Amino acid sequence: MDTALKELFDAAKAAQARAYAPYSRFRVGAAIRGASGRIHAGCNVENAAYPVGTCAEAGALAAMILAGDRTLSDIVVLGEGEVLCTPCGACRQRLREFGGDTLAIHVAGPEGIRRRFTLAELLPHSFGPDNLA
Ligand code: THU
Repeated sequence: MDTALKELFDAAKAAQARAYAPYSRFRVGAAIRGASGRIHAGCNVENAAYPVGTCAEAGALAAMILAGDRTLSDIVVLGEGEVLCTPCGACRQRLREFGGDTLAIHVAGPEGIRRRFTLAELLPHSFGPDNLA
């Protein structure tokens, strides 16, 4: 893993440790590399009214916008268990708003990066801001 990716992985791991997931007990951390080079992290935040809970990716994107970045080049999503923790369908669309087809999505487990996808692979032929231009 190169240094920049390791830095992103470490940020996702620190975010995962802050996850609020008392219902699913499935803790997720996400870390974004914004266009400025800065890192923006988020964790899942569940709610007793289950559908109101938010994903780690949504939290990281909110942090990115708040910090002033408008695009991202890479995101690390770090989940638990053996199965790949790929972003849910709604988060793929959220990522599409601020990243193009080449956005790199690194799916990780506690031990490291497991697989790299592009956004185009996870959300082909997507609908995005260009459609409304
Ligand atoms: N979750 C995420 O935060 N990101 C993902 O990519 C997949 C799922 C969260 C939502 C919920 O709090 C828990 O994981 C179980 O679905």
